[in-house]
Amino acid sequence: MTYQEAKAKLTEIGQDQILTFYQYLKSDEQAALLSQIEHTDFSYLKELSHRDRPLKRGTITPIRAMQQGEITENQASFEAVGLKEIRAGHLGLVLLAGGMGTRLGSKGPKGTFNIGETRDVYIFQRLIENILTQVERAGVWIHLFIMTSEKNDQETRHFFASHSFFGYRSEYIHFFKQEMAPIVSDEGKVLLETPSRIAVSPNGNGGWFASMDRAGLTKLLHQEDILWLNVFAVDNVLQNIADPAFLGAVISRHCASGSKVVRKVNRDEKVGVMCLEDGRPSVIEYMEMTDEMLDQKDESGDPAYNFGVILNYLFSVPELERIAKGILPVHFAFKKAAYTDQDGNTLAPDEPNAWKFEYFILDMVHELGTCLPYEVDREREFAPIKNLHGPDSVDTARALCRKNSIVL
Ligand code: UTP
Repeated sequence: MTYQEAKAKLTEIGQDQILTFYQYLKSDEQAALLSQIEHTDFSYLKELSHRDRPLKRGTITPIRAMQQGEITENQASFEAVGLKEIRAGHLGLVLLAGGMGTRLGSKGPKGTFNIGETRDVYIFQRLIENILTQVERAGVWIHLFIMTSEKNDQETRHFFASHSFFGYRSEYIHFFKQEMAPIVSDEGKVLLETPSRIAVSPNGNGGWFASMDRAGLTKLLHQEDILWLNVFAVDNVLQNIADPAFLGAVISRHCASGSKVVRKVNRDEKVGVMCLEDGRPSVIEYMEMTDEMLDQKDESGDPAYNFGVILNYLFSVPELERIAKGILPVHFAFKKAAYTDQDGNTLAPDEPNAWKFEYFILDMVHELGTCLPYEVDREREFAPIKNLHGPDSVDTARALCRKNSIVL
């Protein structure tokens, strides 16, 4: 893209402040900025006009989760169905590792964080070890797709390679980068991170399938006849990935998706829980719940809204392809973002100053129309690391690992 083309494109959308410092840049910086302008998706900006409109929710009703009792009763048959699928190569795995991990504040990508106490135990290593348990059980390798972002891609690839992929067969690991979205001021102007770079952030955990497609990996799904994808977060170091019983249960119940869930610890636990919204699976956040909903009971006398999501999902690939062309809603959040002011100074604000755009994976579940909430034991499968200390932290995850006899 030439300077004139960039200028015309940006003037048309009222964003030519992006070129403020262009004439003072070195030629390689000018080229990089023009390329970034060419490849940035500015269509997110249209969404900003909805920012003051309250979130419109449909009618919320409870969803029935498959609880541990029912799972135990059917364990053998679910596992048989799931193992058969895995052995036929029909399952692939997607690790979502494109997030910024700002709350943890680690230097590198979140998965490179070392939670070991007497030896090195990296978050990525824990996840690979968990997958290897199922690989050994099934006796086949499972394709693992790892989503990074432009901010951590090189470091993540290098980390895996320098640790010999923690024993995983490297031909079965496929990295891809997620899309980035521009960061915008409250006045609707795209911010500059430096005089020669537009400020961008990863576009949320819901953009993974579109990004996989753009990276050409859906071709591999077809070639390898991968029909199911188990998508999971980077930060839960105890999760059971490629779990045959979960896969078997979702297939047996003819659902297009499945979501591992954990039972709330008490009525007021501040977690989003699974529900139906206008008859389709969804999540209701704690602050959206009325007292009436918090006290509502199901036919067994248990709380009707009792199961929180843990970001471990199964998706049917043909169903994903059916919705792929549909448009997921864009969410926006007002957050802190470093930026370059009119005088070329880079500022790091203490207060939120900018809008970031994100797609949510939950909206995919909603679009797919059917989902099996599948209860897992939180003591055995849920040790998320969001913070260094306090709730959902390195400390709580270490304690749970110890309880599960994992040597740290
Ligand atoms: P979180 O919502 O915990 O976000 O992500 P985060 O970026 O990791 O952490 P904070 O909020 O900055 O502290 C849940 C999962 O979704 C992935 C994360 O890597 C994590 O596995 N994710 C999130 C992405 O892959 N891309 C994104 O744009 C956002």
